[in-house]
This record gives sequence, structure tokens and C-alpha cells, in this order.
Amino acid sequence: MTSPIRTERHDDVLVIISDNPPVNALGQAVRQGLKDGVEEAMGDDAIKAVVIRCDGRTFFAGADITEFGKPPQGPNLPETLDAMEAGDKPVVAAIHGTALGGGCEVALACHYRVAVPSAKLGLPEVKLGLIPGAAGTQRLPRVVGVEAALPMVVNGNPIPAAKAEAIGLVDKIVGEDSLEADAIAFAREQIGKPVPRSSEGTAHEDGVKNPDLFDEFRARNARKIRGFDAPDAAVKAVKAATERPYAEGVKKERELFTGLMSGTQSAAMRHYFFAERAANKIDNVDPKTPLIDIQKVGVIGAGTMGGGIAMNFLSAGIPVTILEMKQDALDRGTGVIAKNYERTAKKGRMKPEQVEQAMGLLNPTLDYADLADCDLVIEAVYENMDVKKEVFAKLDETVKQGAILASNTSYLNIDEIAQATKRPGYVLGLHFFSPANVMKLLEIVRGAETRDDVLLTSMKLAKKIGKVAVVAGVCDGFIGNRMLSPRQKQANELIMEGAKYWEVDDVLLEFGFPMGPFQMADLAGIDIGWHRDPSKVTTIREALCAAERFGQKNGKGFYDYDEARQRTPSEEVQAIIADFARKEGTEQRDISKDEIRERLLYPMVNEGAMILDEGMAQRASDIDVVWINGYGWPLYTGGPMFWADTVGLDTIVAGLEKHGLPVSEYLRRKAEAGERFN
Ligand code: 3HC
Repeated sequence: MTSPIRTERHDDVLVIISDNPPVNALGQAVRQGLKDGVEEAMGDDAIKAVVIRCDGRTFFAGADITEFGKPPQGPNLPETLDAMEAGDKPVVAAIHGTALGGGCEVALACHYRVAVPSAKLGLPEVKLGLIPGAAGTQRLPRVVGVEAALPMVVNGNPIPAAKAEAIGLVDKIVGEDSLEADAIAFAREQIGKPVPRSSEGTAHEDGVKNPDLFDEFRARNARKIRGFDAPDAAVKAVKAATERPYAEGVKKERELFTGLMSGTQSAAMRHYFFAERAANKIDNVDPKTPLIDIQKVGVIGAGTMGGGIAMNFLSAGIPVTILEMKQDALDRGTGVIAKNYERTAKKGRMKPEQVEQAMGLLNPTLDYADLADCDLVIEAVYENMDVKKEVFAKLDETVKQGAILASNTSYLNIDEIAQATKRPGYVLGLHFFSPANVMKLLEIVRGAETRDDVLLTSMKLAKKIGKVAVVAGVCDGFIGNRMLSPRQKQANELIMEGAKYWEVDDVLLEFGFPMGPFQMADLAGIDIGWHRDPSKVTTIREALCAAERFGQKNGKGFYDYDEARQRTPSEEVQAIIADFARKEGTEQRDISKDEIRERLLYPMVNEGAMILDEGMAQRASDIDVVWINGYGWPLYTGGPMFWADTVGLDTIVAGLEKHGLPVSEYLRRKAEAGERFN
């Protein structure tokens, strides 16, 4: 087999080049090639300096994740990098694309780093439930200081080249189109000078002088890292860089890395990494199908949902025509969009000129005729089949042929909506999640007649606007809401049977969700859909409304809220629930947290199994992607289906039976066969 690494001589500079598509992952052959290349350079007196660069779209994007969990094959990355750093000839990393994880560690082991302006550098291992494992946690703080290293190692977000230069991680920004030549010239300038070794750097002394940096960082990031093991280990590893000599710090890093690698969190998060990528692939659709060109998008409805949807496209530089029925609703909608952008700018996440540019792409209208030349129109009107059909019939008349017509419905039958048009092949569901400009998930609902190019275009467009998209079939609630429904049913039954509603919320919080169903109800508003007649009380929610408990907005819902929006359980609400249970003849009893957890989560797995069996999701991992991105299912458990695998499907079936809950044939069959979903 030919090596993915080749070397080219430019007089006294040896250029080591990796060509390992798609992302130059540091698999065994790459490591071997790198080691050989460095040895070639060090052993040849005619070579005075070395440049390491990559072909293709990116510098090394990290260790090869597909090798994880398999028997290690030498040379390993740390020893390859140590050999590289140890030499006396200057070694320069020439970076384009993304130098991530092990790739960033390669760069750190080089004596110098040059990068093109569009390059990004980062240590995203925490996103895989890991920490850097090739001395990144020890070299980085010695180069950039603890204060700059902590967010990179603990949060894992890559930084642009300019920032990397500002903190001292990159020595020079070079021409976007002249990386190799500039890197060779830079390397030549370093010949004869003593080489700076990252492992001997002293920038980490900021953390020696001020050890409080670590606790302060943890406190600032507490909410983001709650429940995850890796960020804690990442802080410990960087701290070790300030407390121990380099070699001892490396040992500590290895110990923490190995511990995480064998844990369930990393297995879950690596599963998620591949799940997110698998979700892009659409069954029975040729990925080479020509796409529909989307130059202009129409959105019907300028309410919260329509406005949020529009923002996705505006932010990506795609013009949007937004339509409302009445001028005041249109003005209100565009006003909200402008305010949202201003808020983002105030937080420093957008430049004023970017806000102006995005707003300049918005075209508000009251006239359907203005949608005629849109390539995609997304309907986000009231959730009612007759209304939707009317809208689609009108769209069919006005919008040019060949354009995609999408509904943002969260439950309704896309096939029925499509039949209101003469082009059902161009109709599909694009189900955004609220707030639509923030939430990552997009369910792409494939109708019976939806064309391949319509699906593929929607999938590509989703990526362009920063969404994680999953294809769902036509069924009530698609994937996400369909699975939410049995959980909600159990939550309501549990409180009638005596579980305290705050315990139901706490069980989900402890599991890792950001909030439970009753907190969520308070946040959304208990009075959504209320008939406003206090004399007609048939549900707990109606009773709360009759008692003027509307949720967070008036300071009381299921919970009482103080001025800082801190919640406390309410005796009044507990009495209302007990009263309801008495009237319905439901006996209340103490219910354990284990029972609450099983009754909330096991029926979701059962529903997920049915969704799979009916082909409403293409693969179990797609369901995990939906729940992690749309509903706050904790990433470190890998999503509901992966989590079910770790619990054991036989345990889930036994739990459902114990609580008298339905078990689908498919789930039972898989459990009996000792199979997993993923
Ligand atoms: N190992 C193996 N395969 C990888 C990979 C890796 N590190 N990174 C990406 N791939 C694969 C993907 O699975 C995908 O495969 P597919 O085409 O079969 O689905 C293909 O490469 C292309 O990836 P993307 O679709 O993600 O391509 P993008 O252009 O959108 O993104 C990227 C490129 C930003 C590099 C993104 O792939 C990425 O973030 N990769 C992971 C980076 C990472 O986490 N690195 C750290 C690894 S752990 C490590 O290095 C440990 C070390 O400290 C010892």
C-alpha cells in the first residue's frame, strides 16, 4: 500500500506532505509516514529545515476516531511528536483548513506554526468525551498561557488563525494561496537559530502565579459542563501543567485520557459524532442527484416561528421574502427580527455591518405575488390542516414551477398537504424547533411523493444554515414530538398517582435534561390554548389557569417564582393535583425516583422502536440526533436509543412490563435476540 505521506525537497527544506482524504486523520499509516519523514530530514545533512503540510481540504483534523477502541498500532502519536520536537532543525507546521485535536498537537510539537487567514485551530477532544492525548494539554499552556489554553481545552471550540496569532499559537499568518512557498521561506529564516520547543515554554506561569484561574474558570463554565466528565479532566490536565514538570504532566494527561477513553460517556459521544454524519445520508437517494439552486427563500408567517426561520437564511446571506396577512403583524415580525439581531450584536457575536447586511436581505410583503420567484417557500402559519391546504393551493398558483414548497408543521400529514397542490413531488416538511434561529435541529419530513432532488437540496441547505438535519417519515409528530408524547403522558399520570411534580422535573434534571416538563410548561405559558373560562375546569392546566397561575410570565405556574426567576414548589398546586386525583378516584402513593425515571424514559425507547420498525426514521442513530439537538437529551448518554443499548433492551422491556406499559413487538424481538439498536 502506498503511504499517505510523501516528501518533497526544496533545496535545503524538506516538505512532508500528508494526503489522507477526507480530513487527513492521523491513522497508523500517517503516523508512520510522519515519523519516517522526520527521520529522513534529521538524518540528511543537506536538509536544514522541515515544513509539514497537508493536501486536500484541511491540515490534520485529529486522531483517526475509527481506530479508537481497537488494538493500538505503532508508532503512537505522542512518540512521533516527541521525535519531531526533539530535533535541532526547525520544523514548521503549515496550516490550512482545521488543525484539530491530534492535528493541533502536531502543530504544537512543531517548532513554529504558520497559517492561512481562513485556518482554524482547536482541541475539540472534549466533544468526543476525551481530552487531548498527545501532550496537547501540556504543550498548549506552555505556549499560550493557562488563561488562553483553558477555554480551548475545556470547551473545545476552535479559534480562527487571527486569534491564534494573537495568543501566540500561530507565529505568522501567510498568504491564503501561497501557504507552501511562504512556509518554506519562513522555515529558511529560522535556520541556524535555536529552536523553540513548546514543551520548554514558560507561558503557563500565569497559572503558577494565579492558581485561582482554575476555580474561576470552572465557576464561569459550570452550566455548560454540568454532567460531563471530560471538561473536569481537561481542567485537571491543564492544572497538572502548572504543578508538575513536563514529563510528569504528560503522564497525568495519559492517565486521565485512558480513563475517559474506557468510559461510557466517550463511547456515547463518539457514537454521536458518527450519528450526526450518518444523518446526512438519505436512504435510496443518489448523493450525486443534481440540486435545485436556492437563491431566494420565502417564509409565510412572521410570528415567532416564521421570523426565526427567516433569520437562519438571512444570516447565511440568502435573501428572504416574508409574508403576513396584515401590515401590523408584518411590522411586528420584522421588528422582532431586527431586535434579535441587535441583541446578538450587543453580545459581540455579530458586527453592526453584519446586522445591516442581514436586514438588507429581508423583504417584507403582504402580497403572495412577491413569492413568485422564490426557489423555496416555507409555510409557518397556524397549525390547522384547512388553513395549511389553503396556503399550499395558493402557493401552487403563485410560486414558479420547480420551486420547493415546505411546511413547518410539527404534527400534520405532509402527504395530505401536498395533495392541495399539483406538484406533490416538490412538497416536504421542514420542521424547525423553537427558537428557530437558535435550535440546531431540523426534521426533514419525506412525503410519499417527495422528489430526491427536493430532499437532497433541503439536506444541503440545512448544513449551509448551520442546522443538524434528520429525515423523518410522515407520522403524527414525526420523530421528536411522537416520542415526547408518551413521556408527557407518563408525567401527567405520575403526578396524579402521587409523584410530586418537582420530583418528576428533578429526575429529568438529574438525568441531564436542561429542564423537566412542568418547568417547561411554566416557561412556555400554562395558558397556551386555554379557553379562558374559569368555570370550566377539566384538566390540571385549566385549574391552574383558573387560579391565575399562568407560568413564569406572571410569577406563578406549577411553581412560584421569585424576582430572580428561582422556582419553589407550590402547596396550592399540590393541593389542586391531589383534589383532581380524588375526584377521578386515583389513589395517590409515594413513587420512587427510579420508577419515575423508568416510566418517563422507557416508553420513549418503545416509541423509538416503533418509529424504526415503521421506517419513520432511517436508523436508530437518527433518533439520537433528533433528541440531542431538539429536546436537550444529554449528549453524554448518546441519545435515547444509544442509552437504551447501554441500559440493555431486556431491562427496558422488563421495566415496561413491571409498570404495566405497552411493549412493541419490535422492541421485544430485539431484546429477546440480545440485539442493540446501534
Ligand atoms: N477520524 C476519522 N474520521 C473522521 C475524522 C476523524 N478525526 N474527522 C472526520 N472524519 C470523517 C467523518 O466521519 C466524515 O466521514 P463520512 O464522509 O464517511 O461521513 C468525513 O471525515 C468528513 O467529515 P465531515 O462530514 O465532518 O466534514 P466537514 O468538512 O463538515 O468537517 C471537520 C471537517 C471540521 C474536520 C470535522 O470532520 C471534525 O470536526 N472532525 C473531528 C475533529 C476532531 O474531533 N478531532 C479530534 C479527534 S480526537 C484526537 O485527536 C485525540 C488526540 O488528542 C490523541
